[in-house]
Amino acid sequence: MNIQLQRGQQYDSQAQRGGQGQGGTQNQQAQQNQTAATPPISSSSSVWDKFEKGDKIGEGTYGLVYHARSKETGGRYAIKQFKGGREGDGVSPTAIREIMLLREMRHPNIVKLESAYINRSEPSLWLAFEYAEYDLYEMIKFHRDHKENTRDNPFGLMPQYIVKTVMWHLLNGLSYMHQHWVVHRDLKPSNVLVMGEDPAVAPHQHGCVKIADFGLARIFQSPARPLSDNGVVVTIWYRAPELLLGARHYTRAVDVWAAGCIFAELLTLKPLFQGQERKTPGNVFQADQLDKIFRVLGHPSIKNWPELEVLPHWVENTDNVRVKRPEWSGTGLHTAVLEAMRGAAPSWAQGHVPQECVPPREAIDLMHRMLDFNPSTRTTAEECLRHEWFRQEPKPGPNVFRLPGASTPLVRYPRRPMSLDRVPAGLPGAAGAGGGPGDGGGGGGLPPPPGPPGGGRAGGGPGGPGGGMRGSSQAAAMLAQSGPQGKRRRMENVPGFR
Ligand SMILES: Nc1ncnc2c1ncn2[C@@H]1O[C@H](COP(=O)(O)OP(=O)(O)OP(=O)(O)O)[C@@H](O)[C@H]1O
Ligand SMILES: [Mg+2]
Repeated sequence: MNIQLQRGQQYDSQAQRGGQGQGGTQNQQAQQNQTAATPPISSSSSVWDKFEKGDKIGEGTYGLVYHARSKETGGRYAIKQFKGGREGDGVSPTAIREIMLLREMRHPNIVKLESAYINRSEPSLWLAFEYAEYDLYEMIKFHRDHKENTRDNPFGLMPQYIVKTVMWHLLNGLSYMHQHWVVHRDLKPSNVLVMGEDPAVAPHQHGCVKIADFGLARIFQSPARPLSDNGVVVTIWYRAPELLLGARHYTRAVDVWAAGCIFAELLTLKPLFQGQERKTPGNVFQADQLDKIFRVLGHPSIKNWPELEVLPHWVENTDNVRVKRPEWSGTGLHTAVLEAMRGAAPSWAQGHVPQECVPPREAIDLMHRMLDFNPSTRTTAEECLRHEWFRQEPKPGPNVFRLPGASTPLVRYPRRPMSLDRVPAGLPGAAGAGGGPGDGGGGGGLPPPPGPPGGGRAGGGPGGPGGGMRGSSQAAAMLAQSGPQGKRRRMENVPGFR
């Protein structure tokens, strides 16, 4: 088990959010000690006893995500249906043990797992998470698709305040996870969510960034090359160079690399290293991804990265990776980012980056540290939070969308689009799932909540201890009843075309 939870070591969300922009890092007061009821893993009731099923939000590496409303509180949730665990189909003991630990992670910048449900007869697992209206994938896409300035998008590119606030929250969540020995392993824009500002969301949560899907890559096996039902692939664009060169261990540094790639993408609206994935089965050498990295950052050297000498693909000189090519001199991060920003800038800016969006030297310096080839010298999430850039104006704030005190948001992002394909045939819960036709506008095709919207505040967990099981022995007992294990199938996402 690689996760050590230190109970009582929590951030004080209020102090932390209030202190944002002051360069503070973490507050480990146990004030917000979340010994509050640990969400249950329930095998005694179906997830759809507790929730009204809404539209499908999306489909990722591990399964499907649905919009849902708690029948009890009317609160909105995202329910993730998983198919298959590491040890064959169904829900493996490893998966259960790790979920029981992951659900104890509590931090304002980590999406909250409310409850988990296991279906014994047809082994599968559902996790109910607090609902977040936005994610970075959609926010970046919005700027890319609507780059001319409009009322909703007055600057074309993403304003510095938004970029900085997103990065601050993201690094805060990451720092907490890393402190608790949890490595995300699959950080990418669609896994970084942002809470909406509607009345059902508590005001202090408005515009708050939430890291989603942390640790799942470990539980469900990070698919280096996923099985393909629909011909799509898991993205390699955020993968750290040590992994691309064959390192077998995921360390905290791989998340910092991915966060550095996200940082650049927020500024330029396109992935920094957009390699072509080799689609051969197995953990193949992703030469093009490394090529894209080397073209910007240059060719790595043993001098700066001594461990290179033991990395399998380097040792084997796979695809001549050790032989420096002229195009691997490296344009440099600063040039690459600014050129990409100029390319993404709206036409009214006439080849210039709008003033509100220009990254200062310090921003590129931080990105550089996050994209250090050598994982041992790569900066840590905690160090990032102390970086000078966060102390400069505009300082990061508690709400990504608004400068502190502002009556209007800087940018009005569209609410989450939802597929009308509401209940795929053959999936459990297809019959009598409830919910009206999707409106694609945030309601998710759900019927009105039974109670006042305030009841839907994230944190008002459905279920409750009634049907829940606690403790690993119970989980193991439950597991023993979880039925025959079938052939594993895994869903996939299409990078850039989710
Ligand atoms: N708690 C949540 N609230 C709202 N939307 C969510 C939530 N969790 C996930 N989503 C959204 O559901 C969609 C599918 O998510 P999912 O995690 O399955 O796929 P992914 O993020 O593209 O890939 P991966 O499975 O590798 O994480 C994404 O748009 C994601 O932002
Ligand atoms: Mg995800």
